[in-house]
Amino acid sequence: MSDPKRYLITAALPYANGPVHIGHLAGCYLPADIYVRYLKAKGKDVVFICGSDEHGVPITIKAKKEGITPQQVVDKYNDIMKNAFAEFGIKFSYYGRTSSKVHHDTAQDFFKSLYDKGVFKEEITQQYYDEEAKQFLADRYITGTCPRCGNLGAYGDQCEKCGTSLSPTDLINPKSALSGATPVLKETKNWFLPMGEIQQSDAFQAYIKRFDNWKSNIKGQCQSWLTEGLQSRAMTRDLDWGVPVPLRDADGKVLYVWFDAPIGYISATKEYFSSNVSDNNGKWEDYWMNEDTALVHFIGKDNIVFHAIIFPMMLMTHGKYILPTNVPANEFLNLEGDKISTSRNWAVWLHEYLVDFPNRQDELRYVLTSIAPETKDSEFTWKDYQTRVNSELVSIFGNFVNRVMVLSHKFYNGVLPSKQVELTDEKLITARKNCFEDIKQSLEKMQQNLEEIKLREALSEWINVARAGNKYLAETEPWKLVKTDEESTKIIMLDALQICTKLAISAEVFLPHTAKKLKTMLAVSELQWNQIFDENILSANHTLGAAEILYKQVEDEEIQKQLTRLEEIKKANTQQPAASNLEEVKPDISYEDFDKIDLRVGKVLEAEKVPKADKLLKLTVDLGFEKRTILSGIAEYYKPEELVGKLVTVVANLAPRKIRGIESQGMLLMAGNDFGKLYNVGSEKDIEPGSVVK
Ligand code: MF3
Ligand code: ZN
Repeated sequence: MSDPKRYLITAALPYANGPVHIGHLAGCYLPADIYVRYLKAKGKDVVFICGSDEHGVPITIKAKKEGITPQQVVDKYNDIMKNAFAEFGIKFSYYGRTSSKVHHDTAQDFFKSLYDKGVFKEEITQQYYDEEAKQFLADRYITGTCPRCGNLGAYGDQCEKCGTSLSPTDLINPKSALSGATPVLKETKNWFLPMGEIQQSDAFQAYIKRFDNWKSNIKGQCQSWLTEGLQSRAMTRDLDWGVPVPLRDADGKVLYVWFDAPIGYISATKEYFSSNVSDNNGKWEDYWMNEDTALVHFIGKDNIVFHAIIFPMMLMTHGKYILPTNVPANEFLNLEGDKISTSRNWAVWLHEYLVDFPNRQDELRYVLTSIAPETKDSEFTWKDYQTRVNSELVSIFGNFVNRVMVLSHKFYNGVLPSKQVELTDEKLITARKNCFEDIKQSLEKMQQNLEEIKLREALSEWINVARAGNKYLAETEPWKLVKTDEESTKIIMLDALQICTKLAISAEVFLPHTAKKLKTMLAVSELQWNQIFDENILSANHTLGAAEILYKQVEDEEIQKQLTRLEEIKKANTQQPAASNLEEVKPDISYEDFDKIDLRVGKVLEAEKVPKADKLLKLTVDLGFEKRTILSGIAEYYKPEELVGKLVTVVANLAPRKIRGIESQGMLLMAGNDFGKLYNVGSEKDIEPGSVVK
């Protein structure tokens, strides 16, 4: 879309089952907020929607854990989340919740229209049922091994490790998350969205052309699902917490949480327009049903299939709605070398950050934007936080502003002087010219990056503006120059104040708390975004406000305190040291499965290293009835000559596989662990009992 008339920006509705951490902020809410602030600064018509996702299994599981009702869970966390977002300057037009009446009605109407159009396939299927808990086990009520990547803790709807979306029956070795029991299959009726059929439709085929303009991480994921072919997916569940299915024969059934939650964007937009907080004269329909609206969903990568495929299919089959223009999904943010995890308490919680770092929200906004996982997973470490705050925010930006403010008060009592002459000194003229050029370039790049939602880059161009300002001061030294050349000093100081003003205008997008303070210091209010490209924003005789320190240094002790806290959590998480080095036992296999493996004793005849492969040895093994070439990853443990003449166990019927261009015709059975010990039958090398034999 070349120039949309209005924007509807959404940020994924967080489950109201826990507080917000830095991963949420960096992955979704902060980028959405920055983009919205930018669009608003450009004078665009924007509505920014979010809210609490209050249905689904995550909520009921939490309720069970805390011994309270699901309603109490969502009431508690809805408040906590809403406050945390507000504290960090994430400024939604409206923050809704999916337990609201408007939402229930909207979601039911939506379901009903799809139902009336005959979109759903009604199917009786076998679903897992927990006989102890007397309940069907949907989605996250069931865990097991991911059939694709082997992750032991995959959920019934998704494997968070490899991102595959799953059905409970796909899981290997399923277990009830409620009781730990092995579930049984029981028949039940549900309504399915025939995604495979919709995939073939012209409308969907036309829609997926949009992916071409999307970030490659999203395009890649979507394309791989489409190539595999989409499966029908139930849009209803046998659960008691959620939006009731609006059909007669559907007692005890609710809408699938991923059906109702994205409709939450629609209901929140409705509520926004009907509430008096709306400062917008339009109608909600303009934003959802008008082709000249750009609909942009900010999400984390685990939400891609729902926003790029399923929700658009719902909107499309409904018929009245527009489809997403863009789905800028971020990857994950890790914390100190480990995946952020709510259940392991491995996170930096926003409400806790606020206690330890009061009034320092922009510091976190700055760091999280500069390390945002825009194209790949990234990592937050406290040391890096300290470095970025101290050596960028404090030393470059904060220091520049402070020098300019202090000097302006000292030289001119805070009143802008008027410029009488032009610079004559060649050195000063060059410094000024370079500074202007650098700043213009940085501002243009910053704007371009904001346009393209490359916010990391945009922020780094923003700090470059301050960097150029500092360089200008260092090259012209107004604190010395003032003694010999007052008129030239005025020119430089005026320039520096204009640069501060440009920084203040653009800080509004990234660092709203800072922008507010800086604008007070500069005594400016009504500034337009495009003024960042003007040479003279402030005029002579303008009176500045008082100088204020914008940030304080992050001290070593503050960082140490955070690291200690994390160490304690890590310790608490790894209580059983001895057994933890061993891999978990795989699910049972039948004797028939086992019997398929043909194990033979072989004798190593020759062994040699494989060029350019540190770990591989190429062996010739005599199996009695034939000789085989076998590649084995044991070069770190055995010298070739050690093996010659040895007896080994060989998987003799493993399908041949090409490794490094050589066909390997079998596999040696070995046991190894992570400490570099290796064992093969008949050798004396030691190995702990329980090490996986492979
Ligand atoms: N609650 C989901 C999560 O945290 C996101 C829901 S996004 C919406 O992963 F589209 F459904 F709203
Ligand atoms: Zn997986």
